[in-house]
Amino acid sequence: MTASYPNIRMRRTRASAWSRNLHRETQPRAADLIWPLFVTEGKDVEEPIASLPGVSRWSVDHITRRAKEAIEADIPCIALFPNTPPALRSEDGAEALSPDNLMCRAIRAVRDACGQDIGILTDVALDPYTSHGQDGLVDEAGYVTNDDTVAVLVDQALNQAAAGADIVAPSDMMDGRIRQIRMGLEMHGHHHVQIMAYAAKFASAFYGPFRDAVGSGGLLKGDKKSYQLDPANAQEAMREVALDIAEGADSVMVKPGLAYLDIVLRVKQQFGIPVFAYQTSGEHAMIEAAAACGAADRDAVLLETLTAFRRAGATGILTYHALAAARLLNG
Ligand code: PBG
Repeated sequence: MTASYPNIRMRRTRASAWSRNLHRETQPRAADLIWPLFVTEGKDVEEPIASLPGVSRWSVDHITRRAKEAIEADIPCIALFPNTPPALRSEDGAEALSPDNLMCRAIRAVRDACGQDIGILTDVALDPYTSHGQDGLVDEAGYVTNDDTVAVLVDQALNQAAAGADIVAPSDMMDGRIRQIRMGLEMHGHHHVQIMAYAAKFASAFYGPFRDAVGSGGLLKGDKKSYQLDPANAQEAMREVALDIAEGADSVMVKPGLAYLDIVLRVKQQFGIPVFAYQTSGEHAMIEAAAACGAADRDAVLLETLTAFRRAGATGILTYHALAAARLLNG
């Protein structure tokens, strides 16, 4: 008997809801999500971000409330990003190393309020702290230096770990930083602090609203193409991932997400390491814009994108829609 129509009818298993449920290969869960949150100074402050509809900067007291909401929704981890006051931004981004900076205060507050019930992921890069908006130290020629920057990033990661971060996530794309950060963490007794390397981070046009959110957008001169990957390059992305794994990353990230699912799939297949996808601010804004003009059903599109990340092999997804998605997924 040949396995062809009508012996095979692909529509048989799709004919009813119970059967579709039974045959579903992938399903996103709330437990797959990481929720990025923007922190700002003050008390009882909410600042909506115009270019990122539905997302606000919150003062530390509110951040702890968001963390509790995440726990209730079964979201296992939050990611914190600070909107550093302009007066504290400088050429060298020294505020990143202050034990009492906004980031560290937010980490401690969430830890105090939530204990070990939620993971705290922190971003390692200088752009929320520099007056020029670059992720590292800039020399006279305007070049973002590598080795000098890495030395500062190690101290930044140690500062975050000392405040209680569970996962430090270097998003800077400097060469060799994973090894140096890992050595620093080991030397200072932070044996259980994970490193999630933004290993395949592309110089993308999808980051605009994020830069508004952390206040670096207006400051940034030029671009980040001398350190972030060319969107055209998949082979080079795989080399980046291989290096970060060899240097001691516990997990790697691909960023942006939806336009780079081929990279997610290749990383998963080639390395079998936990790989996370970042549904970036620009992706969030596109979904919201499509919903606002009636071009798409927001919830349906959102769940479809999360399913697509999982289907491509993503272990988890960073998404500003995490709480909404978790509530939909939990019914
Ligand atoms: C900066 C950083 C960026 C994002 C996360 N960390 C932006 C950039 O590289 O300019 C982007 C996140 C998003 O767009 O949602 N270190």
